[in-house]
Amino acid sequence: MKPGDFAVPDDISADNIHQKLVTERIGHDFFSYKTVGSTNDVAHKMAAEGASDGTVVVADEQTSGRGRLGRTWASIPGKGLWFSLILKPDLTAHQACLLTFLASVSVADALSERYGLNPELKWPNDILIKNKKLCGILSEAEFDRGMIKFVILGIGININHSPGDFHPALQEQAISVSILLERQVDRKELLADILNRFDRRYSEIMRNGFLPILDEWRSNCPHIGKPVQFITAGASIEGIFQNLADDGSAIIRMQDGQLKRIISGDMIV
Ligand code: BTN
Repeated sequence: MKPGDFAVPDDISADNIHQKLVTERIGHDFFSYKTVGSTNDVAHKMAAEGASDGTVVVADEQTSGRGRLGRTWASIPGKGLWFSLILKPDLTAHQACLLTFLASVSVADALSERYGLNPELKWPNDILIKNKKLCGILSEAEFDRGMIKFVILGIGININHSPGDFHPALQEQAISVSILLERQVDRKELLADILNRFDRRYSEIMRNGFLPILDEWRSNCPHIGKPVQFITAGASIEGIFQNLADDGSAIIRMQDGQLKRIISGDMIV
């Protein structure tokens, strides 16, 4: 099989996904596009126009995929899973950022169960394997009087890329499922697995809060207790990644022993 050939039918249509879902809320409304600018933008518009909690928007290709901190996210046709979840939970604005940890652990769980991979979670919301980026999550939210109006969780996973599909500048930093497994995989099977796992945890946070999710994240993060560097607000800070705090911030032990809390930025491992 040549790279890029699909060994399995790989059509991510609503019908194909619905047969595989066992969810309470996620994916009942499911919109699949061939090409969009950004699934987050499509989802944002739908959410503002009344789409229901758990709606999923997926595209085969994004022409202006976005990453965190104003970066672009390359989303070439048919190679990855590019999708956004519309969430309308009854939670406070402070809890919105915790939903990205829920997404990370759901994706990591699906990757390890389905393919036996060993995902490494990197603060705040990257998934690495062999220290290369496999998945990124972009969370965008609107609030109303301190409560969440809606959250859009945009998830990008490199699936059937061969090394040459990545921009030369990213070839050392990015990886795909097919590079790791040395075969092409069926994107819709993985998407359904992720949505089923996300749904289970999403219902659980309504009952038990976020602490079990944060513990699951910590146990899949190999960087806790290790020296790291943070780039935040243009400054670079070095220290030991002490822990993930219960509010989603990173606690770092500085060289002078003081603890510092980082709420946004990039961690370099
Ligand atoms: C990052 O690591 O910087 C986050 C990348 C998020 C990419 C996904 S792909 C689906 C969704 N639509 C977008 O435009 N971005 C997110």
